[in-house]
Amino acid sequence: MTRHRTELAIETSGLVKVFGTNRAVDGIDLEVPAGSVYGVLGPNGAGKTTAVRMLATLLRPDGGHAHVFGHDVVREADAVRAQVSLTGQYASIDEDLTGTENLVLLGRLLGHRKPAARERASRLLEAFGLTEAADRQVKNYSGGMRRRIDIAASIISTPRLLFLDEPTTGLDPRSRNQVWDIVRIVVAQGTTVLLTTQYLDEADHLAGRIAVIDHGKVIAEGTPGQLKSSVGAGSVHVRLRDPEQRPQAERVLARTLEADVQLDADPVALTARISGAESGRSAAEHAAQALAELAREGVTVDDFSLGQPSLDEVFLALTDRTTRKEMAA
Ligand SMILES: Nc1ncnc2c1ncn2[C@@H]1O[C@H](COP(=O)(O)OP(=O)(O)OP(=O)(O)O)[C@@H](O)[C@H]1O
Ligand SMILES: [Mg+2]
Repeated sequence: MTRHRTELAIETSGLVKVFGTNRAVDGIDLEVPAGSVYGVLGPNGAGKTTAVRMLATLLRPDGGHAHVFGHDVVREADAVRAQVSLTGQYASIDEDLTGTENLVLLGRLLGHRKPAARERASRLLEAFGLTEAADRQVKNYSGGMRRRIDIAASIISTPRLLFLDEPTTGLDPRSRNQVWDIVRIVVAQGTTVLLTTQYLDEADHLAGRIAVIDHGKVIAEGTPGQLKSSVGAGSVHVRLRDPEQRPQAERVLARTLEADVQLDADPVALTARISGAESGRSAAEHAAQALAELAREGVTVDDFSLGQPSLDEVFLALTDRTTRKEMAA
């Protein structure tokens, strides 16, 4: 079988960063294909920002290697810097300037002539829904507006690789959606995005591939679908007509699905996690059999649905595994 190798935006092997005795990044191997959103998912302190800062040449690795578009982040730092842009906790926005002033200034610093810098600033402000706030000082922006101007600032000149370090932490759902739309626009223009997040649904919505990191190590990697199927086939949700039949339904589901059945707060609802992978049958086949058994035993089902496990479930399952391994060690 020949494997088509797409161009890699980022390639790391055994990347390490140590702070004192703390191995903040503890041997990370990553391959990030160009042209997509790659999600780096992990809880507080997992090592996400530290990894990003090494890749953006802001922090020197203590071990291993990292290449950005083929350039070594240590030996060819200038070549790397010319291709990347970073948004996050370290944005270069001046709070006392207005949105327009910030973007024009950054454009000028990048060597654009004034009319071109103004034009680019106003196009970005419009694209990011900030036209009305363009002449207000950034210190008076809301959290969501601030995040959007940060991203706008980082793509004044289109970088080949954009690091977005937790771009939506603390934003309301509407502002998160606006940031997601912006990320999609940026990728459509050909930029590769490395996105760190603590939100699994965010990675699920945006990323083609995801690395889950915990304690400085990659504990899982793959497409969102692969990560989900690695922890189970999905879950079956059942709503009954009659709450009195719930104990009976619970027994039938436990038997046919060989799963733990959870009784939901709603007295007519039950949820069962399908493990399924071993038997080689699909989640849908398991679910169909369970439904047939319920009917055969006279349990009336009002509603029935089959869901993939959420990435939240995946994440808890994966981090639980590492926690158990640590406790056993
Ligand atoms: N400059 C530093 N000096 C000492 N320790 C540091 C430094 N930067 C990070 N650390 C430590 O390294 C570990 C990883 O931190 P990092 O900021 O990379 O995590 P993170 O995954 O980005 O977390 P968060 O989601 O909270 O932003 C933490 O234990 C942190 O305390
Ligand atoms: Mg961080």
